[in-house]
Amino acid sequence: MGRGWALVTGASAGIGAEVALRLARRGHPLVVVARRGDRLAALAAQARREHGVEVRGVAADLSREEGRAAVRGVLDQLRSPIEVAVLNAGIGTQGRFTDLDPATEVRQIRLNCVAVVDLAAHVLPGMVANGRGDLVVMSSAAAAQAIPFMSTYAATKAFEMRFVRGLDHELQGTGVRAFAICPGPVRTAFHRLGWGKDLPRLMPTESAGSVAARIVRVLDRPGRHPVVASGPLAALSMPLTALLGEAISAWVAGLYHRPHGPRREPTAAEGRPHRS
Ligand SMILES: NC(=O)c1ccc[n+]([C@@H]2O[C@H](COP(=O)([O-])OP(=O)(O)OC[C@H]3O[C@@H](n4cnc5c(N)ncnc54)[C@H](OP(=O)(O)O)[C@@H]3O)[C@@H](O)[C@H]2O)c1
Repeated sequence: MGRGWALVTGASAGIGAEVALRLARRGHPLVVVARRGDRLAALAAQARREHGVEVRGVAADLSREEGRAAVRGVLDQLRSPIEVAVLNAGIGTQGRFTDLDPATEVRQIRLNCVAVVDLAAHVLPGMVANGRGDLVVMSSAAAAQAIPFMSTYAATKAFEMRFVRGLDHELQGTGVRAFAICPGPVRTAFHRLGWGKDLPRLMPTESAGSVAARIVRVLDRPGRHPVVASGPLAALSMPLTALLGEAISAWVAGLYHRPHGPRREPTAAEGRPHRS
């Protein structure tokens, strides 16, 4: 039997683009979503050329109800239920909360939390009726603890992880699995906004391709693994956080994330920032 449709949000760049190509290689026809339609078109052309799969691109802002409705509309037109949904689109703001733009903080919650619940609610009934399917939510190692100066972001990632843990329990016996993927630092455009601080050279990081490969390995593996740490730092920091407790972990994270110097806007060559 051929593979069923896979949905990947945030597929125009970074981890999402790598996941989409690997799912195409696995034989899934794709629905790919992000705001930048030109990048989705390029990805679709590559997936068709290299893997011969059907691809539908939806240029939509998932922080807005109209964008989510557009995606739901495309999913409703498919001839079969989604088999794999990778809800990956996300942004992360950095800074002292009182200095940040309140509208962007709320938009971050709409994208990282509301869109995830909305699209999960849309795809899960079909998966359950079909008796199989995998829901993958891109959380973060940041889900394990409070992170001062990324307070909203860490809270959204904790929401995603808790949401998946609950779903995993509810879905037992249905043939449908739910995974929260929790990477540590990944070398993508995600880190372009901040205080001029790129990822430190000595910090153990991962590539987007390595996170994507991890996701496909998790899908290929039998059994339920609701929370999956990805990369060396996540494998170390998540158990360490549990050991040290919330207060000490937050204090240590606050030392690292404390603002140093003026905020830096990305250069034209670095591309579009995460703020919409
Ligand atoms: N990079 C890391 O260190 C890291 C670590 C742990 C977890 N994560 C998580 O991994 C996920 C992907 O991040 P990444 O590192 O791959 O970042 P990225 O390279 O910046 O990719 C983010 C993706 O999300 C899409 N997106 C952003 N805002 C959107 C919106 N309003 N509507 C629809 N799509 C939107 C972007 O596309 P458009 O701009 O075209 O819309 C892009 O495709 C995020 O959920 C992030 O929290 C990242």
